[in-house]
Amino acid sequence: MAERVPVVTIDGPSGSGKGTVAAEVARRLGWRILDSGALYRLVGYAARQAGVDLEDAAAVAAIARNLPVRFEGGRIFLGDEEVTRAIRTETAGNDASKVAAIPEVRQALLQWQRDYARPPGLVADGRDMGTVVFPGAPVKIFLDASAEERARRRHKQLKEQGIDVNLSGLVAEIEERDHRDRNRSVAPLKPAGDALVIDSTDLTVDQVVERVLEQVRRVLPQAVPGE
Ligand code: C5P
Repeated sequence: MAERVPVVTIDGPSGSGKGTVAAEVARRLGWRILDSGALYRLVGYAARQAGVDLEDAAAVAAIARNLPVRFEGGRIFLGDEEVTRAIRTETAGNDASKVAAIPEVRQALLQWQRDYARPPGLVADGRDMGTVVFPGAPVKIFLDASAEERARRRHKQLKEQGIDVNLSGLVAEIEERDHRDRNRSVAPLKPAGDALVIDSTDLTVDQVVERVLEQVRRVLPQAVPGE
């Protein structure tokens, strides 16, 4: 079933604009969206709340298998606590990248992510959407941008959410997170062999969205609604 539902995967490092681009592409296509990073953020957040050592693979995996999570519109709840904003902090991003390096955690989230693929289609945003979770996806995008540009975008995004962080600290954190994501033994961040790589350093969000939709039109001509 999952393999027959069309999937567009959008992978890339943090701050590459994946989230914004994926949301807009999903809106234009009228498809569902999977923000897989949110799932890793939730696991990291829940583990920290439970006082679990983030390197204790068995304990963190047990948390991942039993996450009491609910998505309601744009809001996310863990049990009775709303965590929509709490999981967006840099600490939560870093915790996510630590728990994401644990194979049992990735395994625990695998089927859950695949279950998001339902008609009419899915746009999946993450690090391993095209390589591991949806290897049969007809359209795969790998979105990149320089570390400085990504830090600038992240800074702007956080500021808009009222979160004030120091830019040079952000560059260092982004580089540290990239390093961990690219060098981990399971599902490292890398473009799928058949992915279209887009460097967005000098492109606007609209230009990136257009390139992605062009690719969708080429591969799945009937998927893009007439404009
Ligand atoms: O995309 P986002 O910044 O929310 O992801 C947070 C972290 O979750 C990433 O740094 C990465 O370590 C991890 N992640 C992952 N695989 C995914 C999505 C996110 O390992 N598919």
